[in-house]
Amino acid sequence: MAKVLILGATSPIARLLAAHFAEDGATLYLAARDTAEAAKIATDISVRTGAVVHSGAFDAADFATHADFIERAAQKLGALDGVVLCFGTLGEEDAAQIDPNAALATIHQNFTGAVSLMTLAAHRLEEQKRGFMIVIGSVAGDRGRARNYVYGSAKAGLHTFTQGLRGRMARAGVHVMTVKLGTVDTRMTWGREGTLLTISPTRAADSIYAAYRRKAEVVYVPWFWRPIMGIVKLIPERMFKRTRF
Ligand SMILES: NC(=O)c1ccc[n+]([C@@H]2O[C@H](COP(=O)([O-])OP(=O)(O)OC[C@H]3O[C@@H](n4cnc5c(N)ncnc54)[C@H](OP(=O)(O)O)[C@@H]3O)[C@@H](O)[C@H]2O)c1
Repeated sequence: MAKVLILGATSPIARLLAAHFAEDGATLYLAARDTAEAAKIATDISVRTGAVVHSGAFDAADFATHADFIERAAQKLGALDGVVLCFGTLGEEDAAQIDPNAALATIHQNFTGAVSLMTLAAHRLEEQKRGFMIVIGSVAGDRGRARNYVYGSAKAGLHTFTQGLRGRMARAGVHVMTVKLGTVDTRMTWGREGTLLTISPTRAADSIYAAYRRKAEVVYVPWFWRPIMGIVKLIPERMFKRTRF
């Protein structure tokens, strides 16, 4: 039975992914900053599926704690077969565009925190020569936009880091999947106007889990973001800088 660590477990997408893993017999460790909420989610999934579900605290931006945290989670699980990286934040984009501390907070919570945790987890998976990583990125990382380039650049860094890691891990038989997620109706997008392109967390989690099962490498969720971003990336910079995307 797979032993899976879920980072950012209070995200509704993470919660639904955790339920998919539990239904398939996995043992889980749900990690979040909000430990009370993570414990509630763990109990709920355990009651519904009969799976063993642990929970605990982590903070992506607290780098000094990461090594102990990964060790503790692996010990609690009894092994580490897979990691699902589902944390992130839009941050305060307006503040981040004028205040370096706010900008760095966004980068740490989306990118450098992920680099730290993935580096530690990858080393374990590589040594045991099996396992997987699912990394939730964003279509925002495909092209820098005036409106959210701090968040977008963090996701772009995450995509490139994950791409390189995928190549390294392939030699050890460890599968690494990048998810380029479009707009999902979650706390992150709360208060923003929904569009026809916005999907539910259920649809997002179902698509991500299906992609994991078929061992996809890079998946756009939903699929239509691949052609959309293909076109967006073709727009010449001179025109793109004037758009209101
Ligand atoms: N919603 C969208 O439209 C959309 C689009 C593209 C990509 N994504 C990505 O999808 C993933 C899940 O987001 P969501 O939409 O489900 O939003 P969400 O409900 O706000 O979930 C975000 C998760 O990240 C965690 N998190 C934030 N900062 C953290 C930190 N410093 N340390 C540990 N955990 C931290 C949150 O934990 P706390 O409860 O502790 O805050 C929460 O569990 C994120 O990677 C996001 O970038 C979302």
